[in-house]
Amino acid sequence: MSQSKGQTNDLVSLSYQNIFRTFLFWPRIFRLLWDTHPTFLIAILITNLLKGAVPAVILLATRELINSVVAGASGGSFQPVFIAFGVLIGVNLLYDLINIGESFFRKMFQSRLSNQVNIRIIEKAQKMSLQSFEDADVQNMLQRAQGEADYRPFEIFTQILAIMSSVVTLFSTGAILIAWRWWAFLFIFLIPCLSFYSFLRIGQREFNVHFQRAGRQRESWYLSFLVTRDNSFKEVKIFQLGDYLRKRYKMILEGFYREDKVLAVRRSYTSLAFQIVNQGASAFIIFMAIQATYVGQILVGNLVSLIQGITLTQSTSQSIVQGILSLCQNNLYIKQLFDFLDMPEETKMQKSVQHLPLSAIHSIEFRNVSFRYPNTEENAISNVSFTLHQGEKLAIVGRNGSGKSTIVKLLTHLYSDFEGEILINGHSIHELDKDSFRGKIGVVFQDFVHYEMSVRDNIGFGHVASRENDEAIWAAVDKAGIVDLIAGLPEKLNTLLGKWFEDGQQLSGGQWQRIAIARAFMRNADIYVLDEPSSFLDPHAEKEVFQKFDQLVHERIGVFISHRLSSARMADTIILMKEGRIVEAGSHKHLMDMDGVYAEMFRLQASSYLSQGESELEQEMLSPPLVKATGGS
Ligand SMILES: Nc1ncnc2c1ncn2[C@@H]1O[C@H](COP(=O)(O)OP(=O)(O)O)[C@@H](O)[C@H]1O
Ligand SMILES: [Mg+2]
Repeated sequence: MSQSKGQTNDLVSLSYQNIFRTFLFWPRIFRLLWDTHPTFLIAILITNLLKGAVPAVILLATRELINSVVAGASGGSFQPVFIAFGVLIGVNLLYDLINIGESFFRKMFQSRLSNQVNIRIIEKAQKMSLQSFEDADVQNMLQRAQGEADYRPFEIFTQILAIMSSVVTLFSTGAILIAWRWWAFLFIFLIPCLSFYSFLRIGQREFNVHFQRAGRQRESWYLSFLVTRDNSFKEVKIFQLGDYLRKRYKMILEGFYREDKVLAVRRSYTSLAFQIVNQGASAFIIFMAIQATYVGQILVGNLVSLIQGITLTQSTSQSIVQGILSLCQNNLYIKQLFDFLDMPEETKMQKSVQHLPLSAIHSIEFRNVSFRYPNTEENAISNVSFTLHQGEKLAIVGRNGSGKSTIVKLLTHLYSDFEGEILINGHSIHELDKDSFRGKIGVVFQDFVHYEMSVRDNIGFGHVASRENDEAIWAAVDKAGIVDLIAGLPEKLNTLLGKWFEDGQQLSGGQWQRIAIARAFMRNADIYVLDEPSSFLDPHAEKEVFQKFDQLVHERIGVFISHRLSSARMADTIILMKEGRIVEAGSHKHLMDMDGVYAEMFRLQASSYLSQGESELEQEMLSPPLVKATGGS
């Protein structure tokens, strides 16, 4: 973790040493390209090489044409003119064909490559641990990787191609110049190289600016998400946040614009300065060639091809230099992608250590478990211990932020860096194969997901393999007690939920939650966990859910978190959390007898239910001793 952070925080400098180091990525880039589509790759390579050779052929044909026309006009034969003319037309036509073919292959290849990279990024993200994923630095890395995914690898590839084809052009057209004055070629070729260092510095600056942008880019994405998504739209409207959020968004974008402008201006000035030097150099050589023509050293046709040769040599030399420069720069960007792909993954247990078949989870034990979230000062939970056996239900109660959900996240092995021990069937949780362990858990997180998809997906995702199994889905629907709800939807299981897509059916918070509960019940789990199911449920629904939960958990392990102690009392064990520690634990009766914090909370809730007469249901759930405790009111 800290290692990867080091990589992301330090600016990568575009020193010569680093440049050469980044070329080490080339084999990897080529493998990526090759894996994408070998045939297209080869086709693009060949068409580019051909394209590189064409200018020289055109130059030669033009030279022959002019010289033969000049000779023909002074009484020579017309045939050479005809041949040169034919070759010129033919080559131009061929050039067009090659271009069309090349652009076709390029388009196909580019789209394949971008798909391939994006899929790899998603694959990688899936393999990472929640802990890395919640890290802002890692999110920035992901942002950079995704930002570059679509075009950087392809840009590197096309730059290499462009350089290759420029080199072919350089030497084929340069040959004309070399044949005349070799040093003129060298002069014209070397002048653009002088700009290398200056442009390298500019490239470095551009990269640094973009590198530091990732965090702000994510923020701008988030701001635009807030004002354009339905969930937040309501609040944005009512709290009249639109203007403020838009201003913040605009400020970020304008910041980018200002940075870009500074960079663009700098680049333009540098280009201008070097362009003047380049033009001066070629003007000098062209002038010499004109002089040589005047004194009759060279033919007019040769002068034309020399002038073209000089301009081409100069422009190709320039594009080679620029190509190498942007390659260096792109190498830095591509490093962001590869750094992300190389991030540590959720440690997979070596299967050899423990072949625990995990046919069933019989027991869970937390032994002095403490945990602190990365980059935080205090423990979220400290010295938490409890044991649960098959057939037992545990309720966790306590105020907001007391560590209840953290216990759930540790129990489901979303974090590994805890102190103490979590034992499953007596084996350390670290020894279990994560996939097979998670396959045994049905959980409704406090912040469960509303999938903007069909009912089938929303529930079937609890056991993807049974997504098409209507019977299994209806069974889960029944367990969650929402048969009426689903049967009442226009397309039943195939009804699209949410409002993101056309014909979506929006549900209430409580209905979504019961869908999430059905999703958890979809799997034949050994542990079921409900984190604050009561948050969205009305008392009647909650009672139903807990009764179903009770039946379902029967021979398994059940954990639930609730603020309604009338539900919690149904558990075999109740633990009361305060500031990350267990302050009281035991059965409802035990805790009431203790007459501590739990008993007080319970009486408080019961009396408020009673005084409000909230529902007969609540009263019915209160036991006689309780009524006595509240003074028989
Ligand atoms: N992903 C997280 N990263 C950092 N701190 C967290 C994270 N989740 C929760 N916390 C902190 O851990 C503490 C316990 O949170 P949590 O277990 O969610 O409480 P509860 O579920 O009891 O309301 C809180 O102080 C909270 O701020
Ligand atoms: Mg919570």
